[in-house]
Amino acid sequence: MRKPVIAGNWKMHTTASEAGLMALELKRLLAHVEGCEIVVSPPFTNLDEVHRHLKGSNLKLAGQNLYWRSTGAFTGEISGPMLKSVGCEYVLVGHSERRQHFGDTDATVNLRMKAALEHDLTPIFCFGETLQERNDSRTWEVLTRQVVQGLMGVPESIIPRIILAYEPVWAIGTGQTATTEQAQEAHAFLRELMSESYPRFVAQSCRILYGGSVKADNVDALMALPDVDGVLVGGASLDAASFARIVQYEPC
Ligand code: PGA
Repeated sequence: MRKPVIAGNWKMHTTASEAGLMALELKRLLAHVEGCEIVVSPPFTNLDEVHRHLKGSNLKLAGQNLYWRSTGAFTGEISGPMLKSVGCEYVLVGHSERRQHFGDTDATVNLRMKAALEHDLTPIFCFGETLQERNDSRTWEVLTRQVVQGLMGVPESIIPRIILAYEPVWAIGTGQTATTEQAQEAHAFLRELMSESYPRFVAQSCRILYGGSVKADNVDALMALPDVDGVLVGGASLDAASFARIVQYEPC
C-alpha cells in the first residue's frame, strides 16, 4: 500500500507572522487526520517559525529548493543541512517555476536530488510537460527525459524514498486541471517507465503525486485514480480551510 501524500507549496507567499498563523490553523484543523502524510512548504524565511508551531503535530515540513553544496561561498543559496536544522524532512526538487525562471535543468535537478538524499531529506521530485510540448505530442518523451535524468545515479535501493510529482506546466496556477483521464494516463505511463528502469516492486512502491490547479472540488476525483498517490497543491494550499478539505479528500 502506498501511503498518500498531500503537500502544500506556499511558493513566495506569507510573511513570518502569516505563516505562523497558517501553521497554527492547519494544526488545529488537521490534528485528527491519520492515514496520509501531510506536508507544507513555506518560504525559507518562515521554516523556523512554522516548525516551532508544528512541533509534535502530524504536519511535516518541506523546503522549496536546495543547493547541492553543504556550505561555502554561495551567496543566496540554502543547503540540505540548513533545511534539516529548521525541521525539514522533505524538499521540493525541480519545480517547474525553478526550471522556467531560475535556470534549473535536468542536470542541476539531479544534483539537487542527490544532495537531498545525502542529507536525508525526502525529495518531492517535480517534472511535467509544457503546453507546447503536449500539443507537439512530445509529452512522453519529455517526461521520460526529465525522470530518467533527474534520477540518474540514484541507487535502486533509494528510489522508493523519492516522491514523484507530475505537474503539467499548463495546469499550474491556471485553473486548468488535467482531466482525470489525462492524469491517470500520465501516472500509469510514469509507473510503467519506473518499472522499465527498476524492479516492478520498486515501481509499485513509488508514490506519484499530481499537481496543477488541485482544489477542494477536484481532489476527490483525482485521488480516486489508481496511480495517483497524492497531490501537490499551490494556490489552494494558501487557504487553511481549503487545504484542510483537500487533505480530507473522499475518493469518489
Ligand atoms: P497550483 O500550483 O496548485 O497553484 O496550480 C501547483 C504547484 O505549483 O505545485
